[in-house]
Amino acid sequence: NKHLPAADRLLHWYDRHHRHLPWRISPAAARRGAHPDPYHIWMSEVMLQQTTVAAVKAYFAKFTERWPSVMDLAAAPTEDVMAAWAGLGYYARARNLKKCAEAVAFEHGGIFPDTEAGLRALPGIGDYTAAAVAAIAFNRQAAVMDGNVERVISRLYAIDAPLPGSKPLMKARVAELTPADRPGDFAQAMMDLGATICTPKRPTCALCPFNALCVALATDEPERFPVKAPK
Ligand code: ADE
Repeated sequence: NKHLPAADRLLHWYDRHHRHLPWRISPAAARRGAHPDPYHIWMSEVMLQQTTVAAVKAYFAKFTERWPSVMDLAAAPTEDVMAAWAGLGYYARARNLKKCAEAVAFEHGGIFPDTEAGLRALPGIGDYTAAAVAAIAFNRQAAVMDGNVERVISRLYAIDAPLPGSKPLMKARVAELTPADRPGDFAQAMMDLGATICTPKRPTCALCPFNALCVALATDEPERFPVKAPK
């Protein structure tokens, strides 16, 4: 059906093909109004920024078993948190995780702010994490951009402008597409699509929910996108 809007196609695909990840709730539960634990979403998004899903799973389990709430993490000795992080790399993330937990615990009574701006004001939370937590944990209509989403959106619209200059344009496109009723599922679906179907090399366009709409596929050159500025 050529007339189904892009977001509906993606969400329909996500309902059937979403990845089962320990920090996620099912799309069915989300549609019934359930929310995942903001502490879990925040922790998983910080861990996932420079690390693969496969590597993050064990660390996520270890951290949430040892420190079941943001109050527990805030009360933990920094050395213990750093030691538990060993192997995940990019240790600034662990230091920021601890600082952010302290801010939530001691300045916000243990409750995560539920808006993108409120989250962005916490130490160690950047644009990506603020948008991801706002959308996934609080169902706020935030435009979530990461490398996977950039690849999907640049192909869908055949965006010829090179990265990184094209980021604001891509973000505007994602914002337009993000549906008001299911922004969290939409963000997770874009990331799953980029990770499993709209891959950097040899994307599986035959299985893609956007294949009837994708401009890059129509011109037979999905791998040309995203265009990168020469170094
Ligand atoms: N990568 C980073 N965050 C993710 C998420 N919420 N779902 C899937 N992949 C991700």
